[in-house]
Amino acid sequence: MKKNRRIRIINVVGARPNFMKIAPLMAEYKKHPEIEAIIVHTGQHYGRAMSQLFFDELEIPRPEINLGVRSGSHGVQTAEIMKRFEPVVLKYKPDLVLVVGDVNSTIACALVAAKIGIKVAHVEAGLRSFDREMPEEINRVLTDAISDYLFVTEPSGLVNLKKEGIPNGKVFFVGNVMIDTLKQNVKKADQSTILYKLRVKEKEYTLVTLHRPTNVDDPIVLKRFLDVFKKISYRLPVIFPAHPRTLKNIKTFNFESKMATQPRVSDVPSNVGLQLIKPLGYLDFLRLMASAKVVLTDSGGIQEETTILKVPCLTLRENTERPITVEVGTNILVGTHPDDILKSFDKLMENYNVRSITPDLWDGSAAERIVRILLNSLL
Ligand code: UD1
Repeated sequence: MKKNRRIRIINVVGARPNFMKIAPLMAEYKKHPEIEAIIVHTGQHYGRAMSQLFFDELEIPRPEINLGVRSGSHGVQTAEIMKRFEPVVLKYKPDLVLVVGDVNSTIACALVAAKIGIKVAHVEAGLRSFDREMPEEINRVLTDAISDYLFVTEPSGLVNLKKEGIPNGKVFFVGNVMIDTLKQNVKKADQSTILYKLRVKEKEYTLVTLHRPTNVDDPIVLKRFLDVFKKISYRLPVIFPAHPRTLKNIKTFNFESKMATQPRVSDVPSNVGLQLIKPLGYLDFLRLMASAKVVLTDSGGIQEETTILKVPCLTLRENTERPITVEVGTNILVGTHPDDILKSFDKLMENYNVRSITPDLWDGSAAERIVRILLNSLL
């Protein structure tokens, strides 16, 4: 009798933005008994606020293995993940290692698998900022070069991969798994009480995030951003849930005391113009994003999420690897100069006009397409 073939897939997560990408895939795998899905968490991000909360809220199964690497320099972190991931791959002998996004965990695990001869799938392939000073850009280019299945979110990805000589047969335009998660959770997020807790009203505040090393590691650069946020807070209250890297730097550089509106790192916010708070969970953050008048950010994923939520997003970077969000979405690249940021903010407030078209295939079914392609190919 012919034995039913099963496919074993190791799914790698490491940092916060990976969790919302893996959630819809795990839900989709469940519908197919022929798939055995294993989660390996590298531990790049750790603790309740940066990791566990997302597993709970997004109902992601617990990782089978946590490599517990935590923080380190790029070389150390990447090497440590590779060292700890290799024995896992050798033990479990998966048919496929699936990685998402562009963090150090993505390239480290893809490289280990490719060298052992295990097929690699990269979800969110082809995005390019063309800025090699961003560690994520290096991770993207290298991961794509060694992947067997490249799942692309937007047309620019197809163009970039073609230019890099990736064979057509490996590239699949499937849409955006992050938007699958957003669509799945937007109603649930409506129940969040975060607006009440922070004492802000629907469409009457600015939401800020900032965490890129180039924006927060240099005290002069970080201070310039904080000054701009302070100025904006005189026009419209600012909520700033800060990444641990940013919070740590604000404390180290002793900037908390210098901010006139007395931001506090506290769960009990004061009713001030600028509220600096700890990182939030997915549902609270989604609620805050959906109800914001405007979002200021240097994040990648938030440019996409605001496009779907139809909230204007001023991106505090000189480039974006997600050009579709500028072409059809609500994203405006404003750069990092304080005058440009303020000018763009004021211009938007004077002429508040939100136009956006949903990018192709950002429809909530990207995970379904990915799993169908994998099943057809691997079985
Ligand atoms: C990483 C990703 C980045 C992604 C971001 C989202 C890389 C190269 N960078 O950047 O692409 O946009 O995650 O969050 O992979 N820390 C904590 N607690 C945590 C995690 C980090 O305190 O749970 C602190 C560490 O002390 C560390 C710093 O934050 O010094 C940076 O962490 P790291 O994982 O190196 O990179 P991120 O800046 O988070």
